[in-house]
Amino acid sequence: MRVIMRIVGICGSPRKAGNTEFLLNEALAVANEYGFQTERLLCSELAVGFCNDCGDCSKGRECPKRDDMPEFLRAMQEAEGIIVASPVYFGNITAQLKAVFDRTIPLRRQDFKLRNKVGCAMAVGGSRNGGQEKTLDAIHAWMHIQGMIVVGDDAHFGGIAVRPAAEDRIGRKTVVASASKLCDLLLKNNKRE
Ligand SMILES: Cc1cc2nc3c(=O)[nH]c(=O)nc-3n(C[C@H](O)[C@H](O)[C@H](O)COP(=O)(O)O)c2cc1C
Repeated sequence: MRVIMRIVGICGSPRKAGNTEFLLNEALAVANEYGFQTERLLCSELAVGFCNDCGDCSKGRECPKRDDMPEFLRAMQEAEGIIVASPVYFGNITAQLKAVFDRTIPLRRQDFKLRNKVGCAMAVGGSRNGGQEKTLDAIHAWMHIQGMIVVGDDAHFGGIAVRPAAEDRIGRKTVVASASKLCDLLLKNNKRE
């Protein structure tokens, strides 16, 4: 029996229907074509506060913060693949996405729950060389520190685009290639089990 696998896409932009969301939609459309179930979580819709390092999660307790973070934690744990997309803000990911990353510390402290999930990243900036690769690095760092398996676009580091993303033909190719590589790897792993 073939198990239906899930891929979650996380959009780090605080802007609705912007360039980052456009690219994430393209990546998730690839995943749908492969037959994966997909889900989107948008930083423009969900509010997540900062980690204060209170230490509760180190003691096996639930995070005491009351906001939308449980949605991210649930979706990440349910998925086999995680696609993260961010705009470049001063050569890095957005503060909203960083807040989400930091609040995933309970998943690491409580048994590395994201271990061996497959991830890929995409970044879009206003300039051609505006720090997209550095933004991918920041996303990759989070994935590696969570014990995930990271894939690029089968040539370089992942999806890299310049605004307006819809007109960036080459950038969109890197997004599709990254999503395809992630899906290929998940299907290969699944066959082996
Ligand atoms: C605070 C801020 C900082 C930015 N810094 C950069 C940057 O360092 N490099 C760059 O190429 N674009 C930068 N941009 C432009 C955004 O990356 C670009 O507009 C992107 O397409 C926004 O994505 P969105 O449409 O999904 O919101 C910045 C935009 C903002 C608001």
